[in-house]
Amino acid sequence: MQESVLFFKPAPVDLSIVETLVEAHRAQPGGLMPLLHAVQEAMGYVPADAVQMIARGFNLSRAEVHGVITYYHFFRPEKPGRHVVEICRAESCKSVGGDELMAHAEALLGCASHHTRADRKVTLAPVYCLGLCAMSPAIMVDDKPYARMTPDKLDRLARRMEIAA
Ligand code: FES
Repeated sequence: MQESVLFFKPAPVDLSIVETLVEAHRAQPGGLMPLLHAVQEAMGYVPADAVQMIARGFNLSRAEVHGVITYYHFFRPEKPGRHVVEICRAESCKSVGGDELMAHAEALLGCASHHTRADRKVTLAPVYCLGLCAMSPAIMVDDKPYARMTPDKLDRLARRMEIAA
């Protein structure tokens, strides 16, 4: 007997917010970056479905808009989890244990960098300089910065937030 496979079509993304934001930014010189920031601020990410609408609004090709979104690590192409943990991967933090901290976070949260855990409770992402270089290594959790982070401190924070795997 042949096994049947079900395919679930993801729910369409409501792009009305994007439409409003495109209208608000399209006449602004260099408005694409502020628009992308505004979309991510409003939705938590920049949905792939929005690329065409943004391209049309700014008279650009879809490839150009996609190129900008993927060039900047800051922009998320997928809806993030309930909590977002960002580990600084820039030079100052890397020089004082940033790589080890990211590896620790991946194991602790049960989630690879650039990914959202299956239960959608947490997204782990790299970030490139939080302006806290003098207090490296630094991380950001739900938009709140934490300096001089250590694996032990991260363990405690994850336990408090109930996001450890
Ligand atoms: S390099 Fe990490 S905060 Fe600047």
